[in-house]
Amino acid sequence: MKTFYITTPIYYPSANLHIGHAYCTTIADAIARYKRLAGYEVFFLTGSDEHGQKIQRTAQAENKTPLEYVDPIVENFKELWKKFYISNDDFIRTSEPRHEKVVQEIFKRIQDNGDIYKGEYTGLYCTPCESYWTELQLDENGCCPDCHRPVEKVSEEAYFFKLSKYADKLLQHIEEHPEFIVPTSRRNEMINFIKSGLEDLCISRTSFDWGIPVPGDERHVIYVWFDAVINYITPLIHNPDMKKFWPADIHLVGKEIVRFHTIIWPAMLMAANLPLPKQIYGHGWLVTDSGKMSKSKGNVVDPVALVEEFGADAIRYFLLREITLGLDGNFNRDALIQRINSDLANDLGNLLHRTLNMIGKFQKKILIASTEGTDLDKSFRLEALDTAAEYRRLMDNVQLSDAVKVVWKFIGRANKYIDETTPWKLAKDETKRQELANVLYNLAESLRIVGILISPFMPATAEKIFEQLKVSSEPKLDDAEVFGLLEANHEVGKPEQLFPRILIED
Ligand code: MSP
Repeated sequence: MKTFYITTPIYYPSANLHIGHAYCTTIADAIARYKRLAGYEVFFLTGSDEHGQKIQRTAQAENKTPLEYVDPIVENFKELWKKFYISNDDFIRTSEPRHEKVVQEIFKRIQDNGDIYKGEYTGLYCTPCESYWTELQLDENGCCPDCHRPVEKVSEEAYFFKLSKYADKLLQHIEEHPEFIVPTSRRNEMINFIKSGLEDLCISRTSFDWGIPVPGDERHVIYVWFDAVINYITPLIHNPDMKKFWPADIHLVGKEIVRFHTIIWPAMLMAANLPLPKQIYGHGWLVTDSGKMSKSKGNVVDPVALVEEFGADAIRYFLLREITLGLDGNFNRDALIQRINSDLANDLGNLLHRTLNMIGKFQKKILIASTEGTDLDKSFRLEALDTAAEYRRLMDNVQLSDAVKVVWKFIGRANKYIDETTPWKLAKDETKRQELANVLYNLAESLRIVGILISPFMPATAEKIFEQLKVSSEPKLDDAEVFGLLEANHEVGKPEQLFPRILIED
């Protein structure tokens, strides 16, 4: 069986997650579910990034140990992912012994290869971002170029990773593998970044102790980014059944951390003689009218409240449809409600409801074997198959929002097919029994196909459709590419509302 390995970044448990984090995890989940649907053996990893000075300081301020502080937050992450129907196969916490062991091994391996040395570090450190910056990289106010908060001058004995040594090899790899960094804009940024010169990277600290100790020199803890990226191999490296998943197919990451994933992480892997991931996909940010969502700006949208209000599938649908992967996208409550009412309640909900209602009313819930039918029937069936083929092409290309749109175009087509064939009129004419049976059969089949195609985006809704159609709830993509799998005499269920319309308050 073909394998597929996808990861999200591991999130900092410094604050509760917002809908921007849920966006990233939802994309990864949709891709993972799609690959399972397409017959791959999938490993989907997410987790929490728990070490570092910032966590230690926050915990101290609350009179807690770092673990006492992070434990409940990490539990909340896990709860949130359940609420969003995230189908991760493992959840890695960097504070787990299994991770500590692998980080120390990789450190040792790189050190033994001669690419880690001890020196003196004086640098500018942004604690909230856990990032070192050079003078040149600071913003116009001399602050962190990412979060624009003040940086601290740090001077201490430290271990260094010979990142500079890998500049040429990295450039060569990026140039020979155009698919390694996506989208192209990020790829170009990284090429320029490497060409402007790479400095060796300080990878240990002595000023705090909440981290993984340097093997053999326990006064030092390993730099949190060096520790964090290794999470991607922690579950695989010592497990003979899991090794097949490396190299990862996609590391999905936000655009501001592409640098860590396309420069530092690959150089570390080269230094440890391990293969590089196949692709790093840098997605855009979810923004509101006041910019990128962040706690400091006070513009965060709470995903738990949102799920409770609208349900996870509606939010997943909105995020996957509205935002083109790779670009920033706007999160807006009115637009969400608009989509729920028009695309979900009206287009999809009505299609299912009308179809099942008519099969119930005109044929006592029983499908009747269909014949070839009219030209309209034939072209409708072809359109269903074209939709499934186009969907596969787009999903294979990770064009999620286009794939969603293609499915909804077909849903629109199916609703129009009802209006064009007017089954309620056919039902009044005894001589049109077969014509009616054909239309209803085609509609039920198209809903079966739609259910399969939307299952990576809206798993609970797909299940409801399967339940109401009374078909297997273990869908396969191949079954969406065949028209006519429903048996004649198949009995469908009763229509139940998929999405209630949301009343818009003035
Ligand atoms: N801990 C590091 C990642 C280490 S991976 C080895 C980290 N954590 S984070 O919690 O700050 O961010 C995790 C991810 O969430 C990043 O990919 C980031 O881009 C993403 N997002 C944070 N805010 C976001 C939005 N407003 N919109 C979309 N994604 C957002 O960085």
